Amino acid sequence: MRFTLISRRIRVTNTVKKPTKATFKPSRSMVSSLSFANFLKIKGGEVKGIISQGAISLEIQRDMEYDNFMPDVKILTFLFLLSTFGGFMLAHTTDYIQLPEPSKSGKMTLEEALYLRRSVREFSDKPLNLNELSQLLWASQGKVKSGRRSAPSAGALYPLEIYVVCGNVKGLSPAVYRYDLKKHSLHKVVDGDKRGPLASAALGQYWVRNAPVSIVITAVFERTTRKYGERGIRYVFMEVGHVGQNILLQAVAIKLGAVPVGAFYDEEVKRVLNISENEQPLYIISVGREKQ
Ligand SMILES: Cc1cc2nc3c(=O)[nH]c(=O)nc-3n(C[C@H](O)[C@H](O)[C@H](O)COP(=O)(O)O)c2cc1C
Repeated sequence: MRFTLISRRIRVTNTVKKPTKATFKPSRSMVSSLSFANFLKIKGGEVKGIISQGAISLEIQRDMEYDNFMPDVKILTFLFLLSTFGGFMLAHTTDYIQLPEPSKSGKMTLEEALYLRRSVREFSDKPLNLNELSQLLWASQGKVKSGRRSAPSAGALYPLEIYVVCGNVKGLSPAVYRYDLKKHSLHKVVDGDKRGPLASAALGQYWVRNAPVSIVITAVFERTTRKYGERGIRYVFMEVGHVGQNILLQAVAIKLGAVPVGAFYDEEVKRVLNISENEQPLYIISVGREKQ
């Protein structure tokens, strides 16, 4: 019998009455998203499972097909264990952080931000706050009035992903997070403060270790090259420039300092972010408060 988390609100029926063997395979989405209720599909028996915010409740459904259904001891034991330890495991392996609404009007003009922008590499150890992080992420790829994103994308194919290597943000535990622009939220992908390993991956540049956060922009080239072929590679590089500049200017506009970092070992950065083979890190932007 195989249990697979498939999507929210799915109820599955099956006519096999006495399942004999249980294996549980949490999918990637199960580990990464707990913001909504999900259901388990169980082949070999009908069980409805609800997973929400780290807690799992399960109930056996009885309907016409199950008039003579006798709950198997094994399945009940499994469900008990799943609801007890599964919930614990999920609560501790996934995190979902809703970011505060970003501001759509600031105090500094675009011209002033352009005039003041420069690379800042000396950061104080004062933390950033969630409003500032929210603003930076929104500037990178957030939803805008048109319904699209703050940076243009060839063919609106959006090959870029945004990660935050967070070490010193008030109200946010040190970890690596992936930005979900649709929900304007963060999803924890790796636990712990990874600024040290990221700085090592960036040839030991100490500002990467000292900055409260580093935003890492990655690309899934295939999303663009599928349509544009070789030329798509050029488009992806152009896009990362757009996103990078948005972050740099937004940082200035909210009185933060930032430095773009392009010198790093790709494979090491991939390990820090725990990303798959088809995703490439392109740019790191370290952000913080400039040391006075
Ligand atoms: C593509 C790119 C890669 C860069 N990589 C690094 C880097 O790895 N480390 C660093 O300290 N600065 C890096 N920089 C920042 C440049 O050194 C900086 O922009 C340049 O010295 C001009 O200074 P300014 O940004 O203050 O105008 C990079 C800039 C760009 C555009």
